[in-house]
Amino acid sequence: MSKDGSKETLTVTDNRTGKAYELPITNGTIRAMDLRQIKVEENEFGMMSYDPAFTNTASTKSKITYIDGANGVLRYRGYTIADLAENASFLEVSYLLANGELPNRSNLDEFVHNITYHTLVHENIRQFIDAFRYDAHPMGILTSTVAALSTFYPDAKHVSDPETRRLQMYRLIAKMPTLAAYAYRHRRGLPYVYPDNDLSYAGNFMSMLFKMTEVKYRPSPVIEKALDTLFILHADHEQNCSANAMRSVGSSQVDPYSATAAACAALYGPLHGGANEAVVRMLHEIGSVAKIPEYLEKVKRGEVRLMGFGHRVYKNYDPRAKVIKKLAYQVFDEVGKNPLIDMAVELERIALEDDYFGSRRLYPNVDFYSGIIYQALGLPVDMFPVLFAIGRTPGWIAQWEELLTDEEQRIARPRQIYLGYDERKYVPIMQRG
Ligand code: SDX
Repeated sequence: MSKDGSKETLTVTDNRTGKAYELPITNGTIRAMDLRQIKVEENEFGMMSYDPAFTNTASTKSKITYIDGANGVLRYRGYTIADLAENASFLEVSYLLANGELPNRSNLDEFVHNITYHTLVHENIRQFIDAFRYDAHPMGILTSTVAALSTFYPDAKHVSDPETRRLQMYRLIAKMPTLAAYAYRHRRGLPYVYPDNDLSYAGNFMSMLFKMTEVKYRPSPVIEKALDTLFILHADHEQNCSANAMRSVGSSQVDPYSATAAACAALYGPLHGGANEAVVRMLHEIGSVAKIPEYLEKVKRGEVRLMGFGHRVYKNYDPRAKVIKKLAYQVFDEVGKNPLIDMAVELERIALEDDYFGSRRLYPNVDFYSGIIYQALGLPVDMFPVLFAIGRTPGWIAQWEELLTDEEQRIARPRQIYLGYDERKYVPIMQRG
């Protein structure tokens, strides 16, 4: 019963038979399996729901991340993204996502120690990365190398063991920056830089990326903090495409490295994590502020998409984009302004005044400004989705663990509506037209 005494049920009438069915409503949803009782003939399979791309289907219950798309709200375990970006560190947020609570001092020290001392990768991984072409896309390297990690940790297959899951979580969060930096150094023809355990998570990543002949790399505190904040902003986003890949592949009880490789592959796509790379390419293609209106006309004719705009859930400004836009200017004060920012700000202003975008509720998303910061740090555009993957790894792992410990979950295996041929006989090739 709801508060006003009305029944928490949905009554549907099948007009093919005149029969009425009362379906329970729980958490504002009906169970798709409750539709199966709706049949015309008793021996039928029963009714299913049809929802391509799961636009209106909850695949799981979750306590990790809450998004209110209409109001631009994003919270990790109840804490707003703005609050966490302002006050927390990325490893603190990683602990929060995994454990559901912010760590106390000793929890955090132990967590940071565990991550710090798992940053090295097997020397075979260096040889594996060396085998890629000099111009291999770093996301292709990262996706392949994360999968390869599963061959170094056969114990990771024991996914029902909480201790084993924890150890793989430490390894994945710790090693993603190492793999990412190795991919970057391979691309640049530079020697790999080993992790420096004296540095913070973001500082060590910068050292592995940018250290040259100096004895010890000294990260800029402004850039270190900006990167750490960017990782926080990317850490999780409920059931996005790559989290869905992590859960779907993880539901087969494969090891978490293989599931994370699937999530990386999903994130690689230009409609998902590849959008930050596509935004910078788009801004370069537009070329100047004066050419923005002409480009937006192409968008409105449906010839191209405005990359970095729009979202399946946010029908308002992505709260992460607001934080990133502010962060950009802090970074520019340190490294010099990326001229693309002026074009991006003007593009946002013009688009938000245009009814085409307003009527479709298309606003800047997390990818619209992040690439401009990464470029200002001197990173090539194809490294941008790699940084997204580093930030998203704790979220993927939290979603994966929640799946494995959810009693309602089984191996993911959707149904289909078959519209193909009915049975037909094989035709020998000599008799085919
Ligand atoms: C991320 O899911 C997540 O949470 C993802 C993410 C995360 O943190 O994990 O937030 C990260 O992936 C952010 C999104 C990055 N992608 C882009 O910026 C690529 C450009 N944006 C899109 O292609 C699009 O907006 C999506 C993919 C993000 C969402 O697509 P939907 O929800 O499937 O929307 P749609 O494609 O059905 O579009 C609805 C309408 C269409 O117009 P009509 O056909 O109805 O006339 O809006 C139009 C679309 O053509 N539209 C756009 C547009 N996005 C949607 N038109 C121009 N430019 C765009 N960017």
